[in-house]
Amino acid sequence: MIGVFDSGLGGLSVLAAIARALPRADLVYLADTAHLPYGDKDDTYIRRRVLTIGNHLVDQGCGVIVVACNTATVAAVAAFREAFPNLPVVGVEPGVKPAAAMSRSRRIAVLATESTTRSERLADLIRQHAGNVEVTVEACPGWATRVETLCLDEPDFVEEARRHLTPLLAGGVDQIVLGCTHYSFLCPVLEPIVAKRATLVDVADAVARQCVRLAGADALGQGRLTLLATANPERLQAALPVLGLHWLGSRLHSPARLMVA
Ligand code: DGL
Repeated sequence: MIGVFDSGLGGLSVLAAIARALPRADLVYLADTAHLPYGDKDDTYIRRRVLTIGNHLVDQGCGVIVVACNTATVAAVAAFREAFPNLPVVGVEPGVKPAAAMSRSRRIAVLATESTTRSERLADLIRQHAGNVEVTVEACPGWATRVETLCLDEPDFVEEARRHLTPLLAGGVDQIVLGCTHYSFLCPVLEPIVAKRATLVDVADAVARQCVRLAGADALGQGRLTLLATANPERLQAALPVLGLHWLGSRLHSPARLMVA
């Protein structure tokens, strides 16, 4: 069984990629909705949540854990790996490396939560993989929460997204890294603004490939999906069709459940 978690709906973009790559794997998705957003919390808080959720998923029998959240990965994946040294753990980090490699203009941007944008781990990623590229890092407060409301294309948000992206595009940025898993669901709003002048870089498929490499026997189950949330599990399940993931719903064998932690 593979356990995948995020603060809320964002990690469903990663879950979908994993479910496509490993159709027979049994998957557990846990949304920490009682504690979202993570993006405005400090590292100590996020680390505590990640360890609590990790413990729960391991107790449920997960043999591989996917931290489907950039904010949780940069803040806590090292602590998590230390706590579970024998467990394969896959984190999600902003796709700085592929963006830098693909950029022709040598200008890229990273959109992420406040917590991720100020993290030392992101600064390290940029130093390691984008040394010869100009990188603009932009915090997008409120964007993950916008996804949670499922009201994605309201005019005020389209305007806000335009305010963020227009100066980047005018400055020659040709790769825009979606450094928060929630932002994948904003592509229908972001793509028309970008209008082919830049590529939106999402690492969900790369994360799924890493799961394929690590899954071993956990790849071979009955293709079942279990949904858990620390608040409002019914909203998590109801979000699937709204986010274009109705096909994942057919893997559910019981209604989404509350997890108290
Ligand atoms: N989806 C998460 C990420 O990738 C965090 C969103 C939030 O809770 O702020 O960073």
